[in-house]
Amino acid sequence: MRYNFDVRTDRRGTNSLKWDVTEGELPMWVADMDFQTAPEIKEAILKRAEHGIFGYTVIPDEWYHAYIQWWEKRHDFRMEKEWMIFTTGVMPAVSSAVRKLTGVGENVLIQTPVYNMFFQVIANNGRNVVEAPLKYDGENYHIDFGELEKKLSNPQTTMMILCNPHNPVGKIWDRETLAEIGELCCRHHVTVLSDEIHCDLTAPGWGYIPFASVSDTCRDISVTCIAPTKTFNLAGIHTAAVVAADEVLRHKMRQTLNTDEASEPNAFAVDAAVAAFTRGEPWLDELREYIWENKRMVSEFLAAHVSEIKAVPSKATYLIWLDCGCLVGTGREIGRYLREKTGLYLSGGSQYGKCGEDFLRMNVACPRSQVEEALGRMQEGIAAYTQWAGSLC
Ligand SMILES: Cc1ncc(COP(=O)(O)O)c(C=O)c1O
Repeated sequence: MRYNFDVRTDRRGTNSLKWDVTEGELPMWVADMDFQTAPEIKEAILKRAEHGIFGYTVIPDEWYHAYIQWWEKRHDFRMEKEWMIFTTGVMPAVSSAVRKLTGVGENVLIQTPVYNMFFQVIANNGRNVVEAPLKYDGENYHIDFGELEKKLSNPQTTMMILCNPHNPVGKIWDRETLAEIGELCCRHHVTVLSDEIHCDLTAPGWGYIPFASVSDTCRDISVTCIAPTKTFNLAGIHTAAVVAADEVLRHKMRQTLNTDEASEPNAFAVDAAVAAFTRGEPWLDELREYIWENKRMVSEFLAAHVSEIKAVPSKATYLIWLDCGCLVGTGREIGRYLREKTGLYLSGGSQYGKCGEDFLRMNVACPRSQVEEALGRMQEGIAAYTQWAGSLC
């Protein structure tokens, strides 16, 4: 291994959202990593900082080329420079898209359980959240296409936010599924907003399929959001891209990102993205190996020592979706108990929709010794929880 992912970097005292917790707590909730970014990216940021002048920034050709060559090489999809717009983040772009591409009071469809901010962004903009829950068979998640079409066919539904790959269940959507989504959305005049922020964090040997690459239909009815921020732990740098092949959708996105002032890069946004997509590949491939070993370790440990909780098998994201359905109480209650009793801080599944109630989400993008510590806390906490819950019955 060229890179050392075992090093623990103290994040306390750095205004980290994740680590702004009580002394002794172990936060493994919000989706950022406890690894330093790739040294190649750090070097580019330090070089920019060293310059000492942080005036307004333009988007150079190399920014477009960095994305284009990465998607072509790693995801077998050729994007055109003209399709791309810089934006300060995926969620600012999703919010702008909801405002521009749908009307107040219209329905935006999401497939639950799904990233909690989607609910907020739809509701905060005065649109209705329409849930098309994924079907869980105890091992895997699937789309109920009958249910999906019923909801898409409501003329009031004008947008679907697709999470590709899917947070929190870690599902990579296959080509047939994406094509079917495209056909249904096209038939019912629904624009697809494909959030592909987790796309590079797949299991070794596995790739994702860009929605827009699947067919002409998928390309023409969609707006895609991509970024180096999840993959390379750069969320605080605020750098992302919107991709729209269709001229009208792209025009609207450009207008709305401008109006919402979400298209101006900060002084590090361009250099960090370019370094990530031109020099980050070796680091990323080692990172994926490391994360998948963490995931394997958690699944095996739970099966052997905490059999009340099951890690749902997944092929994407550094998040583990933990099925707590065998335990009394909701994921939120179990999570609260674990945090109070052991300091282990996980996300309660109900934030991701009602169908996430029996689940917890665990972020394992951290050094292995931290995962080991978390598993010890979980074993102790769940043993205490089952005893306590049993005493109440
Ligand atoms: C699916 C998904 N989209 C978007 C984001 C956040 O994107 P950004 O930080 O670029 O706004 C996250 C962060 O967890 C996410 O999981």
